[in-house]
Amino acid sequence: MHTLSRRRFLSGTASLSAGLLGLPAFASSPPVLRAAASRAQLAPEGYATTPVWAYSVEGAGSVPGPEIRVRAGEAVRYRFANDLPEPTAVHWHGIRIRNDMDGAAPLVQAPVMPGGTFDYDYIAPDPGTYWYHAHNRSWEQVARGLSGPLIVEDTSPWAGLDGAATHEETLVLDDWLLEQDASIVEGRWDDLHAASHGGRMGNLITVNGRAQPVLPLERGTRVRLRIINAATARIMPLALSGLAARLIALDGYPVSPRDAEQIVIAPAQRADLVIDVPNELTDEAGIYVDAGRQRFVRLLDIALTGGIADLHVRDVRPLPEWASPVTFDLSDPQRETIVMEGGAMRGLGETYFEGELLGGRALARRGMVWAFNEAANRMDRPIFELPTGRTLHLTMQNRTAFPHAMHLHGYHFAVIARNGQSDPDRDVRDTVLVNVNETVEIALMGQNPGDWMLHCHMLSHQAAGMMAWFRVV
Ligand code: C2O
Ligand code: CU
Repeated sequence: MHTLSRRRFLSGTASLSAGLLGLPAFASSPPVLRAAASRAQLAPEGYATTPVWAYSVEGAGSVPGPEIRVRAGEAVRYRFANDLPEPTAVHWHGIRIRNDMDGAAPLVQAPVMPGGTFDYDYIAPDPGTYWYHAHNRSWEQVARGLSGPLIVEDTSPWAGLDGAATHEETLVLDDWLLEQDASIVEGRWDDLHAASHGGRMGNLITVNGRAQPVLPLERGTRVRLRIINAATARIMPLALSGLAARLIALDGYPVSPRDAEQIVIAPAQRADLVIDVPNELTDEAGIYVDAGRQRFVRLLDIALTGGIADLHVRDVRPLPEWASPVTFDLSDPQRETIVMEGGAMRGLGETYFEGELLGGRALARRGMVWAFNEAANRMDRPIFELPTGRTLHLTMQNRTAFPHAMHLHGYHFAVIARNGQSDPDRDVRDTVLVNVNETVEIALMGQNPGDWMLHCHMLSHQAAGMMAWFRVV
């Protein structure tokens, strides 16, 4: 792995010559990350391009946005420029970040107005696979294309297998709701039917912005796949057959390696997998997604390259220990509970919204169909407060008829129990899928003061009531 990404190298060179010319050095003018209207070839060749909203660093915008890559402990610095027709902000999903850099508008910063800029400048402390995305009207802005991968490399290179090179590929999965002419379906961003069911589901699944692209893989090599689900609503149950896939990290955090022929990646979740590329692919070998009702769709076409090699499937070593593991002390935790209610089939009883107690119909007129603890979009005050140094034991009960991908900003947490049974894997995550009628218990230690959002990452659910925040003091 390299120490400096190409972009940093180029910036460094530019700043050197700027310095010689007596102009301000790089330190005072970070590269510009821009959000603007663009076009992308999402549908297969032969179809029209799609008008999207896209991020760019230099040159044209792309969907997904440009991959941002730093080493753990390095700074991420961008002047963000909003060239969109509406206010926006950039959230750095999963990063243990300074609160005022978190991008959760309007909680921790004012949204950046059209034509405005905002300087993001923070340290990315922990290695892993992360992503960045718009965080204002995200149910519209992310669905229009505003997301991209953020890769934080380990400071010590990971030799996944002695003597064999380990390549890596970032695969950003997305789901688009397109018209026949390939344009994005407009004007139903707050559609209550979709919002009260599984969310705004798409009709075209893409990998790195293309429908069923070709992934070249070299025979006999070991490849690390960094898979990111950037979809606004679609849970991606993946099947990887004939590739000897093993899971090595979830949401950026190492797990002890385990088989991953089937893996479910909910919106905003990430999974790092290792595959050993065989010499021949069997007919069914490939990566598939269950697009509903057990209809498995091939996500990409694998093209084998290189000559016959003699690598065979071997053990996968765990990733290096994360320098700052998630610690907690369950002997005397602060206990909190979040009860999720509402949605189609079950509905909402009397619920608070903006300080008023309202019935289901009045709530629906205001676009609210979900609630946490009998309040829809509780943004006026924190749902709980946690002192730094104190362990939080949070129980999340899903009393709705739909699964929810629950995300906490600024923190990773350990999943300690499901339905009252302690979870042997104790996976550490920043987004956990809580299934229908399921209760999930998580733990974390307060260590990063500030106001942190807690919401469902099915973004139409967030829009329609599943949004709150907690304060760490
Ligand atoms: Cu990735 Cu508040 O979200
Ligand atoms: Cu949800």
